[in-house]
Amino acid sequence: MTHNLLPWILSVPPLFAIACKLYVTLTTVYTDESVSMKNKVVIVTGSNTGIGLYTARALVKSGAHVIMAVRSVDKGNKAKQEIEKDCRDTNKSVNGGQITVLKLDLSHLDSVIQFVEDFKKLNLPLNVLINNAGMATMTGEQVTTGLEPMFATNHLGHYLLTKKIVTTVEAE
Ligand SMILES: NC(=O)c1ccc[n+]([C@@H]2O[C@H](COP(=O)([O-])OP(=O)(O)OC[C@H]3O[C@@H](n4cnc5c(N)ncnc54)[C@H](OP(=O)(O)O)[C@@H]3O)[C@@H](O)[C@H]2O)c1
Repeated sequence: MTHNLLPWILSVPPLFAIACKLYVTLTTVYTDESVSMKNKVVIVTGSNTGIGLYTARALVKSGAHVIMAVRSVDKGNKAKQEIEKDCRDTNKSVNGGQITVLKLDLSHLDSVIQFVEDFKKLNLPLNVLINNAGMATMTGEQVTTGLEPMFATNHLGHYLLTKKIVTTVEAE
């Protein structure tokens, strides 16, 4: 009986290894850092972690000036240091990419308006806006503004940000 099962048992590790390799290949994020984003200004919301952080990092390595729009400036500064270290380690800082961290809490519309004012003070053009930040919660709780946080963050905040930033850019 054991003898019959042996080939099956022995085939488990290589099959597992193949499955892992396939998973990594299919889920790895590929970024083309050979595309130059030099002199381009890009706002990335929610860029202190996750997809936003990867996006910011790839853009900085391509030479962009990335505005990291984050709800925690402390977390944003840590992410900024992480990207700068990575750029130094991989020698990519030569592209001239840079980072500015600005506070933005999309669930508070006052914070969105303040963010646009802070961005204006930088006197920069805007080439790309990446509305990446997002959250998922089933609590349905309300913030002090009376808005449900998930709806405010994922929809209202980004809508107001886009509308205000586009108006600002068009006016300049
Ligand atoms: N990962 C996926 O498989 C997947 C699939 C479909 C869609 N998405 C969408 O892709 C986006 C990024 O996903 P992710 O996996 O990278 O998510 P994540 O790791 O949870 O990161 C979300 C980012 O959004 C920020 N954020 C949350 N609420 C915010 C608010 N009120 N104001 C400003 N920033 C806020 C978070 O900041 P804090 O660090 O301060 O919390 C964080 O930086 C999200 O919009 C998500 O819905 C992701």
